[in-house]
Amino acid sequence: MTYSSPRLTESPIINVISAGIFKAAKRLRRDFGELENLQISQKSPGDFVTQADLGSEKILYEHLNHAYPHYGFLMEEKGEIKGSEEARWIIDPLDGTTNFIHGIPHFSISVALEKRGVIVAGAIYDPIKDELFWAEKDRGAYLNNRRIRVSSRSKLAESLIISEMCLSTPAADMNLNLFKKIHIRAGFRSFGSAALDLAYVAAGRVEGYMEYNLKPWDVAAGIIIVQEAKGMATPIRREDTLLSGDSIAATNQNLHEELLSLLKP
Ligand code: 2AM
Ligand code: CA
Repeated sequence: MTYSSPRLTESPIINVISAGIFKAAKRLRRDFGELENLQISQKSPGDFVTQADLGSEKILYEHLNHAYPHYGFLMEEKGEIKGSEEARWIIDPLDGTTNFIHGIPHFSISVALEKRGVIVAGAIYDPIKDELFWAEKDRGAYLNNRRIRVSSRSKLAESLIISEMCLSTPAADMNLNLFKKIHIRAGFRSFGSAALDLAYVAAGRVEGYMEYNLKPWDVAAGIIIVQEAKGMATPIRREDTLLSGDSIAATNQNLHEELLSLLKP
């Protein structure tokens, strides 16, 4: 497969973001390929993946900081870096780390731009499938150069709902109960990258996604892509704020209420 160089879109800000993402993706693809040799040598892949993660984040940081020197950052690995303007990049340099470690080709890079508390642009890239999901506020959502929209299914029984099987938290029992409740009514899957889960809702590949205990970098880009694809993204619990990632339900318009009421304790 040949991978694209930065695509030119009609959005200058997305062009800046995607140029950075494509550079970072090149590094991740190389490291992903090298994991095979690592497995043969029976060394632990943990440190190697941390290096891949940090390497991807550094590439994104340097690219975006060069393009917009006054903007701040919130990144999974290095945390918060304050800027002098009320704008910041929210970055997950490698989402789906467990898949990556196991050589499963389903992981992503997620970058969002937040201005005065509002997400104004976001992009999620799958470096292996060469799929760039992106959106700019009020301008619609795209997969590569094609406009995307959430699915139009309105029956849960015909729907596919996704979530991540992170059961190592105190909320494990609650999650297991919710998964059961969902799967009795609908199809259920867990793919391993929260950012791509949101992108798949936006592209209409699945009808809904729900999760607790995420972080801003897991959801920031996905939220605007879902919303611009005419879908809905809200917290599951009233007291949560959407961008915190504490809880999120993202669906097409038809199923949002039904999924939220299904998730009530
Ligand atoms: P990561 O790969 O950047 O760690 C599957 O575990 C997906 O959920 C990944 O996108 C993972 O991000 C994310 N994730 C991180 N913390 C999680 C949590 N506490 N609960 C559920 N999913 C989480
Ligand atoms: Ca993540």
